[in-house]
Amino acid sequence: MAGRPLSGSGVASRALGLILVLQLWPAEVLGQGESGLVAPYVSTVTQDVEAMLDLAGVGPGDYLIDLGSGDGRIVLAAARRGAMAHGVELREDLVAEARRRARRQGLEDRVSFVQGDIFDAPISAATVVTLYLMPEVNIQLRPRLLAELQPGTRVVSNSFHMGDWTPDDRVSGRSSGGLLYWVIPAQVAGRWSVTGPDGDWRLDIDQSYQMINAELRDGGRRIHVDEARLDGDRISLVARQGNHRYALSGQVDGADMAGFLQIDDGDRQRVTAWSARRSEAAD
Ligand SMILES: C[S@@+](CC[C@H](N)C(=O)[O-])C[C@H]1O[C@@H](n2cnc3c(N)ncnc32)[C@H](O)[C@@H]1O
Repeated sequence: MAGRPLSGSGVASRALGLILVLQLWPAEVLGQGESGLVAPYVSTVTQDVEAMLDLAGVGPGDYLIDLGSGDGRIVLAAARRGAMAHGVELREDLVAEARRRARRQGLEDRVSFVQGDIFDAPISAATVVTLYLMPEVNIQLRPRLLAELQPGTRVVSNSFHMGDWTPDDRVSGRSSGGLLYWVIPAQVAGRWSVTGPDGDWRLDIDQSYQMINAELRDGGRRIHVDEARLDGDRISLVARQGNHRYALSGQVDGADMAGFLQIDDGDRQRVTAWSARRSEAAD
C-alpha cells in the first residue's frame, strides 16, 4: 500500500509540541484523582474523526473499539456510518457524557461505553481499533493488538506511532502529528510445505510485522522469489525458475494457507490451486 507522507515540518513540529505537552502534563490534570490514566483527555477534532474513519474504511459490518474513548465522539461517528461501536474509558464523567450524547443522537442501540482500563478491555471482536493515547502506551498495547486481533483488523492512531511497526498508511491530520494506519498481519513466520501442481515445495518465511521475506525450494533447487507481500491474512509471492514464472496468491488461516497459482512457462499460462501447511513455526 502506498504511504501518503505527512506534509511538512509544520505537522512535525505540532506533533512534537503535543508530545511535549502530553509528557509535561501535571499528574493531577492527567489523573484527575483517578489512578491508571495513561493519557490526558484531549478530543480528536471532528475533521480528524472523519479522516480516521475514512482511513480505516469504517462502515456497516464493522465493530469499532475506541480505547480511551473520551466523550465518545469516534464511537458515535462510527455508528453514524452504520458500524457497531464500543468505547472503553476510565473516567466515569466521560463515560456518562458519551452515553448522554448517544441518547441525544438516537444511537444507543449501536453503541456501548464501559468504564474500564484499556489494558483489561477485551478487544478480539473488533474489526477496527482506534487510539489517541501516547507513543509509549501504543507500544505497550502493541503485543496485545498483534496477538488478539484477527489478521486484517485495521488500527488507526491519532498522532502517535507504534515504535518499529511501520504504518501501512498515513495522512496529515488537522490538529496533530498525523493519522497513522496499520493492518494486523497474519503470523506466517516459519517453514511451510506447499502442495503445488508438480509435487511439494518448501517455503521458509521470515517476518517482521507486515514485512516478509520468503525462500522457496523445489527439492534441492531454489526457486527465486522476486516479490513477497502480506496484507492482513492475504499473502502473495512472485517467483521464477528457468523460464517459469509463478504467481501465488492466497489466504492464511492459522497453520494453513490456500489459494491460486498462475504458472507462465513462456508459451502458455495456467491457473491451479495450491495449499500449504506450516511444519515449523518460527521461535
Ligand atoms: C487523548 S484522549 C482521546 C479521547 C477520544 N478517543 C478522542 O480521540 O477524542 C485519551 C482518553 O483516554 C482516557 N484514558 C487514559 N488512560 C486510560 C486507561 N488506562 N483506560 C481507559 N481510558 C484511559 C483518557 O481519560 C482520555 O479520555
